[in-house]
Amino acid sequence: MINRLLNFLDASPVNFLAVKNLCGELDRAGYRQIDPRMPLGSVQAGDELYVTKNDSSVYAFRIGQRPMAEVGFRMICAHCDSPTFRIKPNAEMDGEGGIVKLNTEVYGGPIMSTWFDRPLTLAGRVIVRGLDPMNPKTLLLYIKRPLLQISNLAIHFNREVNDGVKLSRQKDVLPILGIIQDELEKGNLLLRVICDELAIQSTDILDFDLYLADATPACTFGVHNEFISSGRLDDLSMCFAGLEALLAAPQTATTQVLAIFDNEETGSQTKQGAGSPFLATILKRIAQAQSGTEEAFYQAVERSFMVSADNAHAWHPNYSDKYDPTNHPVLGGGPVIKFNAAQKYASDAVSAAIFAEICREAGVPCQRFVNHSDVAGGSTLGNILASSIPLRGVDMGNPILAMHSCRETGSVADHAYCVKAFTQFYGL
Ligand code: CO
Repeated sequence: MINRLLNFLDASPVNFLAVKNLCGELDRAGYRQIDPRMPLGSVQAGDELYVTKNDSSVYAFRIGQRPMAEVGFRMICAHCDSPTFRIKPNAEMDGEGGIVKLNTEVYGGPIMSTWFDRPLTLAGRVIVRGLDPMNPKTLLLYIKRPLLQISNLAIHFNREVNDGVKLSRQKDVLPILGIIQDELEKGNLLLRVICDELAIQSTDILDFDLYLADATPACTFGVHNEFISSGRLDDLSMCFAGLEALLAAPQTATTQVLAIFDNEETGSQTKQGAGSPFLATILKRIAQAQSGTEEAFYQAVERSFMVSADNAHAWHPNYSDKYDPTNHPVLGGGPVIKFNAAQKYASDAVSAAIFAEICREAGVPCQRFVNHSDVAGGSTLGNILASSIPLRGVDMGNPILAMHSCRETGSVADHAYCVKAFTQFYGL
């Protein structure tokens, strides 16, 4: 089971590739892609459907045996974007001896120092000329070899480096790409890499969304191989647990929904993010196709439950003082229910009780997280989604260390626990 997760992580260096791989799994399981530009047509019990937005978010539906208006739906949501660096337009910057570095812009909130001195690569999408300006073609790019690196300054130039370094997002985090070999490569090194990889002409390229990614494969470690080390555990590990559960769960009376959003790390306010009305619109169309009324969707929402799955902070053995004194989830201790008095998380006593019961019935331990009261903490999908679809729901996630590091650490046991709990939830 853990190898499937590791393979998914390695094959999914950025949001676009993650969505492509999730869609591939759905295709193999017999799900049918729907085109939101066309009428939905009739929707039957047992139909397995999915739809994408912007090639960077995906929503899968397994239609229950009873209409949504009568029994609602069970939704698991997660996000497929992770903190990284985006390649800026006109990115190449020439240096002494023909060395070329790339101009980048920070995406989300990475721990920037963790991106230094490790082999990186490029992934994303390249937009090429189509038949007309309104319909360019999209090609996915993933260069599967070490290609770039952001190098540290030698300690001899900064003797205080181990006392903490303030990093400039413009100056310090620009990766080197290569050394120009001839005049033709001058100003063209990046384009050349893209064209070689995709077997296209540089004149066909109109634009791109390209990002840096860790080039070192995910792995397990520890005496018992109990830990996972990988980039993007937040939140691809939850995306994949949701997918595994959807594929494993039995068909029930209730419609099962898996929603994988983009842009959580930048606030979710895009057409493919949790702040978009897109998912609500699709659910409305499905409910209407089932029952012929708009009313059906509103009834369904009141009967539904959402599990907003985004990784939580595991207790770090070197930094006990940063954690709440009585609620500090541990690696291997099972999925974590997150609470926040200021309502940054959707969980309340009712929704937490429901999720804890689901875990108990699945034979899975579960834990609870609240911030140390002097530490601000983060936010996530649940409440943003609830502002467009007022669902009952819980914010939860598997515990990890070093959230937003280039490589985060999770637990093998927790992945199995989470898939079990999610499968139980879908099966209710
Ligand atoms: Co996250």
